Amino acid sequence: MLNIALPKGRLGDDVYKLFSSFGYYCEGLGEDRRLVVESLESEVRYLLIKPSDVGIYVEHGAADIGVVGKDVILETNPNVYELMDLQLGKCRLAVAAPVNYYENPNNILRVATKYPNVAKNHYRTKNRDIEIIKLNGSIELAPILGLSDVIVDIVETGKTLEENNLEVVETIAYSSARLIANKAAYKFKEKQINDLLVKLMEAYNK
Ligand code: PRP
Repeated sequence: MLNIALPKGRLGDDVYKLFSSFGYYCEGLGEDRRLVVESLESEVRYLLIKPSDVGIYVEHGAADIGVVGKDVILETNPNVYELMDLQLGKCRLAVAAPVNYYENPNNILRVATKYPNVAKNHYRTKNRDIEIIKLNGSIELAPILGLSDVIVDIVETGKTLEENNLEVVETIAYSSARLIANKAAYKFKEKQINDLLVKLMEAYNK
């Protein structure tokens, strides 16, 4: 059995569609609320995991491989192998602020974010003093309500920013879904993991 950690949500749905198209199929996946779905025939077991936790499951070997956004990898820095860029879930990590925002360099910058480590690293390289306001969602609200000056968040289409009168000030990094592997599993299940990689490459080169 190959244990695959899938991020719950649209990215996980897209990855499952791709994997099942070349044989890694599991009857009933996504049709009910089961979090572990396996197929003896395809020799695969999917684990449906909160996206930000995928790296933790893979690092600790609870899953052999997994799919996670580069944004999450940059934030959590899991001790895993990054095997392949799946070219899905493309977005960027960016600093955004209210349209026409002027940053006063004499003040400590208040940064609202779900990505405190990404934000800290970014501003450390600029020697800029910041205060992190850690939020878990709807980050765009923070500058609107004066809770923060700017945000560090992912931008996909840019619609959320636009509709809330915010704009990108700086791009920090580009992100897309990555296939990651547990370091021990990559040795002990080398053949199974490589078989999947070959199928993926064939699918991408079609
Ligand atoms: C993410 C992100 C932005 C939005 C960007 O939020 O935090 O709010 O998507 O997408 P866009 O550029 O296409 O508008 P998500 O939907 O994950 O919800 P959240 O606010 O609960 O984090």
